Amino acid sequence: MISRRPFLMLCICLGLLYFRVAVSEIQLGSRISVKENNNWVSSNGDFAIKFFNRSNGHSAGIHFNSLSLPPSEQTVVWIAGGDLTVGEGSYFELTKKGELVLFDSLAGVIAWTSQSANSSVTSAVLRDNGNLVLLNRQNDIAWQSFDTPSDTLLPAQNFSSYQTLRAASGNSISSYYSLRLNKSGQLQLKWESNIVYWTSESHSEPFLRAVLSPDGALQLLDQNSKSVWSVYADDHNESDVKYRILRLDVDGNLRLYSWMQAAKSWRSVWHAISNQCNVFATCGLNGLCLYNSSGSAVCKCPFTQKTDINAKCLVPYQHNCRSGSSMFAYNHTFLYGIYPPNETIVHSSLLRCKSLCQEDPLCTASTFTNDGSGQCRLKQTRYISGYLDASVSSTSFVKRCSDPIAVFPVTPKSPSPSARNSEREQSHKFCIPCLIGATGGTIATFVIFQIGVAIWFYFIRNSFKPKAASAYSGPLPKSFSMFPYLEIRDITENFKHQIGPRTFKGMLENKQPVVVKALDATLEEKKFRCAASVLGSIHHKNLVKLEGYCCESGHRYMVCEFSKTKTLLNWLEDPKICTRLTWRKRMNICISVAKTILYLHSGCREFVCHGNLNCKTVVLDESLEAKVIDYGLACLEASNDGECAELDVRDFGKIVLTLIGGLEHQDNVECIYNHWLESQFNRIVDKRMDGVDRDELERFLRLSFWCLQVDQRMRPSMGEVVNVLESSVGVDSPPPPFAVPTVQPKGLEEPLESYSAA
Ligand SMILES: *[C@@H]1O[C@H](CO)[C@@H](O)[C@H](O)[C@H]1NC(C)=O
Ligand SMILES: *[C@@H]1O[C@H](CO)[C@@H](O)[C@H](O)[C@H]1NC(C)=O
Ligand SMILES: *[C@@H]1O[C@H](CO)[C@@H](O)[C@H](O)[C@H]1NC(C)=O
Repeated sequence: MISRRPFLMLCICLGLLYFRVAVSEIQLGSRISVKENNNWVSSNGDFAIKFFNRSNGHSAGIHFNSLSLPPSEQTVVWIAGGDLTVGEGSYFELTKKGELVLFDSLAGVIAWTSQSANSSVTSAVLRDNGNLVLLNRQNDIAWQSFDTPSDTLLPAQNFSSYQTLRAASGNSISSYYSLRLNKSGQLQLKWESNIVYWTSESHSEPFLRAVLSPDGALQLLDQNSKSVWSVYADDHNESDVKYRILRLDVDGNLRLYSWMQAAKSWRSVWHAISNQCNVFATCGLNGLCLYNSSGSAVCKCPFTQKTDINAKCLVPYQHNCRSGSSMFAYNHTFLYGIYPPNETIVHSSLLRCKSLCQEDPLCTASTFTNDGSGQCRLKQTRYISGYLDASVSSTSFVKRCSDPIAVFPVTPKSPSPSARNSEREQSHKFCIPCLIGATGGTIATFVIFQIGVAIWFYFIRNSFKPKAASAYSGPLPKSFSMFPYLEIRDITENFKHQIGPRTFKGMLENKQPVVVKALDATLEEKKFRCAASVLGSIHHKNLVKLEGYCCESGHRYMVCEFSKTKTLLNWLEDPKICTRLTWRKRMNICISVAKTILYLHSGCREFVCHGNLNCKTVVLDESLEAKVIDYGLACLEASNDGECAELDVRDFGKIVLTLIGGLEHQDNVECIYNHWLESQFNRIVDKRMDGVDRDELERFLRLSFWCLQVDQRMRPSMGEVVNVLESSVGVDSPPPPFAVPTVQPKGLEEPLESYSAA
């Protein structure tokens, strides 16, 4: 027995060796998948590409694979598509056309590709240095993973001014922290796009690139590969270090790590920022940064009693605070706003710094710096971060409403119907997903109908789930009538005034003009009555009202309010009237449409989706008040209200972009997104429009990119949309809405999950 063991080991080793040699070249048509859990390995066995689990799905990436690293230390060094996560049935394939594609089974789309289908790729190889390379016939590199780094640089990997290192994130929204080499030859750590919190020296040589040298130095090299700037790891030049990486960590710090074979762990051997609390917004919304007694940075929230580390730490004061406010002092504390970061700086005394903030109803907090400068920083946002330490010579003041009840405004005893509506919407804002979840599955397939100038109805499916059958058995809402067919003929003067496909203008007995739309006469009676009943119960000032229906053997009609309006498309197409649509007007239209859709989603007796939201189904009257027509009943899939809701959110995003940019490039989201990335706002904004507010423009653009995310899990709910539109809350920087990210600006809701420096 004992003598057979070495032989067995040899067999296993040879087997492994064979396996590795066999798979190091990746043939066209090869595939790895989540289900099979297979991988592609480099010929030295140091690296492998495979799927791995994340908190919110699966990602395909390159890992350390060396047997000398225990599985928990087999760090991921590259992820396909930045931070993309995909579903259970997903795969990563080198197609016959020579393109790497990541197929997401959840969305049913290709979520990422190497875009190399036209580069005559003949094979791929995962090289021994961890670089996944696509080669063409001439054996030239057509694409390499080294060109699209994630959060890690490996030795020999070039990092140039067109690349970004982006910290990983724990949730579906990506990190705010990035590393860039700017055109002036500075390595810069940035939070969002605007705040630089660390830089290397500036070197204005052309073609500069940063590399991690195998001996453990981070260097800037000029075009002759001569080093012009370097920083060294503690173990620089130590020859027994087998692996080194440079990583931008989730906490926003840039670190060099070495593999310690003896300790079987990665050790941080250099970091860019020695005081972690100096990393901008390192605690994100989780509070203020401080060092605990054991010397590690932690986040604490002194403003609220909440102990949950993940709870958001917001300044408790709100602008609608009614019963006065008081200021609370925090010594040795420096505070700064993060959404937005701007603040007003005035010179004053400590006491004046406190009273200035208290007297200003918009001010939420202030920080006075006792270093002789006498600077008082006044903030107007509740999203505040900062640090506290005995050595910090600043005192901060945080405003709090005197009466805790005032934080949640008390509503009048008997609100008017419209007040009640808006109150209802308010309360829904905070838990739209729960509501959608709760209503999910209750409504069956719906009928679609369109109302308005060119009103037309049609049914997408001829079926309704029986669940809603009881809905019409109760009394019909007042003013919602059932018309006999004969009356329909009278109303329309025997279908005399046709105004659209199967759509006629008519007049009720009381001289009220209406629109009558003929529907599929074979529609099952019970289902049709039920759908009509749900829609008939909807009342909203921005929705065209349904007056009644006709359901007799061989006849199905809907009757709706007629209003003299033009569609948004008409308005935008007409160069004359279009000038009336100023920035402010357009933004008001966005807000009314959003609130109206939110009402449909969560304010009605049952969940109703719009299903066909676009510039033809939003109409404007003479006073530019928006009305939504064609609402309802377009939920194609019987049991998935959530998906219908997300379609509406996407369509809303398109409307916002169209209102901002006009009709010209309304369909080219990618182009608008790239202009936005480059801050070329003049190429985005409709030139016929006056009064553009830059801050609002930025927020609305970001919001629309979020709404247009191909991955519908990343889209906000309509409640969140309304929340953003109605407040000055900042919006995270959105990833590219189209599935294939080339550049990856990302935002992160909570930039930091933990402080573990790995
Ligand atoms: C890095 O850049 C240098 C100089 O341009 C080049 O010679 C080298 O091949 C590049 N390395 C990789 C891995 O692309
Ligand atoms: C690079 O960054 C520095 C400092 O952050 C800035 O002064 C300089 O203008 C930047 N250069 C370019 C080309 O953006
Ligand atoms: C690293 O080692 C090389 C030769 O082994 C030596 O020339 C160089 O000065 C060393 N560098 C540092 C920073 O110690």
